[in-house]
Amino acid sequence: MAALLRFGLVGCGDFGRHLGRYILEVGTIAGLCDPQVQRARDTAAALGLEASCFARYEELFARGGLDAVAITAANFAHAPIAVAAARAGLHVFCEKAMARTVPECWEMVRACQAQGVKMMVGHKRRLRPPWARLIELVRPNGPLGEPLAIQACGYADYRPYRFTESWWGDPRRCGGQLHATNVHVIDWFRAMCGEARRVSAFYGPQHETGYQYPDILHLTFSFHRGAVATLTSAMTFPLHKFRQSEGPWGECRHGGFKLVPSLDHIDLYWQRLDEEHPHHERFDDLGFDHAYRLEIGDFVRWVQEERPPCLTWVEGLRCVELMEAAYRSAEQGGRVVELPLYPELELR
Ligand SMILES: NC(=O)c1ccc[n+]([C@@H]2O[C@H](COP(=O)([O-])OP(=O)(O)OC[C@H]3O[C@@H](n4cnc5c(N)ncnc54)[C@H](O)[C@@H]3O)[C@@H](O)[C@H]2O)c1
Repeated sequence: MAALLRFGLVGCGDFGRHLGRYILEVGTIAGLCDPQVQRARDTAAALGLEASCFARYEELFARGGLDAVAITAANFAHAPIAVAAARAGLHVFCEKAMARTVPECWEMVRACQAQGVKMMVGHKRRLRPPWARLIELVRPNGPLGEPLAIQACGYADYRPYRFTESWWGDPRRCGGQLHATNVHVIDWFRAMCGEARRVSAFYGPQHETGYQYPDILHLTFSFHRGAVATLTSAMTFPLHKFRQSEGPWGECRHGGFKLVPSLDHIDLYWQRLDEEHPHHERFDDLGFDHAYRLEIGDFVRWVQEERPPCLTWVEGLRCVELMEAAYRSAEQGGRVVELPLYPELELR
């Protein structure tokens, strides 16, 4: 049996500690890093580790003894950390959003490819069973057939997260509104509909002035296979917590679906056109454990056994591309933006 993969955990805020638990089920954490080094120490203690803690990732990588890095730092730090890790010969597991912009994503990809290391971006939504079930229903031989039109409402109350006081509310550090809110459902759109061809978006009036980006955004993607998908996003909607939002409705070639997320369970309804009544599938497990275990487990198996993983960097880069294209369109009053957004950067 292969020795346990030795991770460095870089970024020890809320999510670093959370992901650390799943990493420890399939690997070890040999060192931690956060500029606020006490956070790294607290995370190590919470995870029951006696690993070394550093304020700078360069020091962590220079010390050696690692096989991979898990990047759970703030979005603005993903690209420099990933590039430095790749140059140190480490495989990279990076949290979503992969980076703020597409050029940053390509920089990360090129650094990994130059060093022959693997990179995965943790887009867990498509792996959570209720959402994965929808992907299964629209597979070529699935009962619903090809998706034609999808809409998701991302209105939610983000006030409890206090984004206006942190890097999350600043587009220069976060990437923009979608990076902070609806990144998950955008990746899932892609899992359902394939590659996008065009994006068009509009900003609404600013509601909460503490955000340094427009906090209301409506957008539409059109996909090469023909589907259209619409997402509406607003950040001060008191009736829904984040987990209750984004439930999509979809019309497909042979029927339709509606996913209704609640705080403690998720209802999925779907029906074929030739059926009298809808199917109802209730998910009492929201599926977070399953998704985190699958992505990090697959990452380890990919590195150690060359087993094809459920995700790579492609999902991360294309999701950032869709978000950046939406901002670009909205900034130009809804002008249709064609993809790829940076043809000159595409790998030949
Ligand atoms: N997959 C998911 O479901 C999920 C959920 C939550 C967060 N995330 C992602 O995890 C990342 C962190 O989110 P969070 O909620 O923990 O944010 P957070 O603000 O709680 O923590 C971010 C941490 O990054 C640290 N940091 C900043 N610059 C750094 C650098 N150069 N090197 C190392 N660390 C640095 C900060 O000091 C902070 O402790 C984000 O990219 C976020 O999108 C993913």
